[in-house]
Amino acid sequence: MKLFKKKEEVNISMDNTVTANNNVYLFSNNKIKNTDNFNRNQAKTLLEIRNLSKEFNGNIVLKGINLEIKENEFMTFLGPSGCGKTTTLRIIAGFDEPTSGDVVFEGSSILNLPPYERPVNTVFQKYALFPHMNVYDNIAFGLKMMKTHNDEIKDKVLHMLKMVKLEGFEHRNVDSLSGGQQQRVAIARALILEPKVLLLDEPLGALDLKLRQEMQYELKEMQRKVGITFIFVTHDQEEALTMSDTIVVMRDGLIQQVGSPIEIYNEPKNRYVANFIGESNIIEGTMIEDYKVKFENEVFDCIDRGFKPNQDIDVVIRPEDLLIIPKDNAKIIGVVESVIFKGVHYEICVIVNGKEYVIHSTDRSKVGDIVGLDVDAEDIHIMEKEMVG
Ligand SMILES: Nc1ncnc2c1ncn2[C@@H]1O[C@H](COP(=O)(O)OP(=O)(O)OP(=O)(O)O)[C@@H](O)[C@H]1O
Ligand SMILES: [Mg+2]
Repeated sequence: MKLFKKKEEVNISMDNTVTANNNVYLFSNNKIKNTDNFNRNQAKTLLEIRNLSKEFNGNIVLKGINLEIKENEFMTFLGPSGCGKTTTLRIIAGFDEPTSGDVVFEGSSILNLPPYERPVNTVFQKYALFPHMNVYDNIAFGLKMMKTHNDEIKDKVLHMLKMVKLEGFEHRNVDSLSGGQQQRVAIARALILEPKVLLLDEPLGALDLKLRQEMQYELKEMQRKVGITFIFVTHDQEEALTMSDTIVVMRDGLIQQVGSPIEIYNEPKNRYVANFIGESNIIEGTMIEDYKVKFENEVFDCIDRGFKPNQDIDVVIRPEDLLIIPKDNAKIIGVVESVIFKGVHYEICVIVNGKEYVIHSTDRSKVGDIVGLDVDAEDIHIMEKEMVG
């Protein structure tokens, strides 16, 4: 039962995910949607962030960010509070100026353009709708400012209402809408101006879990339908994994890793990324030679290569990849310290040589049992060791 798996295998997990042939499929309402059809290497670069830094009163909050954002990409900035996600979006949108660096759209700098002349539009964390206007007028606002013809405005608003599933709501006051409905109005209001890039700053943060999950699927579907680039900000790793073509993991004003959800999950670059994206067992080890790694005083086959002989490394093993086996032939032996039922699986803690291993298993163990642990070669991930505080 795992989220991501190697090629040629088909797996169905309990959280609405099917994996097959290296693609991840989500199913809801019995419809299966492929989420892995974006090819970043072949896509055209739309927006570039070059060596971007930002200082507020002597406090450096962006420390030289370089990033390419592609056409039609669903890109997510993921990172903890204060790491600089909103600041980056505000600089792209033109609400803040960088201290140094550049923002380039289709080859030309847009730093000198005011926000309303930039090919981007923003949906903020708080919906910022006009409370005294009804749904129609809120969505029509930008087009009215641009003096668009009334008939064209009407066609476009009705089209947007259909897209965000609010047909028939045009005369409702926005105050009378639920949080999810207000958020859809905010998205429609931004999309109607047909920006090349839509910036979304934690747009689902205020919604309860169920509504948030529904909106995640809807947003993703909308992005595909309109075929524009989304830059989406969240600090929720599950949301990032579900929605994104590309995840940018940020920390403390720096980018830690850029990759597809599968790359980020399966091949985290460092301890920070591994810990931020789901739970991990991180074990100190030595790369003996290509495809052979030593940890817990035993040598294991793995699929990684390219490290120096006997290089010290960190081994990452996801809790769902550790298998509990009879102790007799096991290389790793430990004692079960705790077993917690988590609904879909048991979370089992096993102590090996004084260290804690977390295992997710659908089979139950007993506290105090002496058990063996095993892991498939492809589920052992090797990371460069680095000093991250
Ligand atoms: N106008 C400002 N003046 C001074 N400091 C600021 C200003 N705006 C942001 N900061 C600081 O910059 C850092 C990054 O803030 P930012 O809003 O980009 O974080 P974030 O990643 O969006 O966090 P969150 O997840 O909490 O929204 C924070 O330490 C914040 O206090
Ligand atoms: Mg923010």
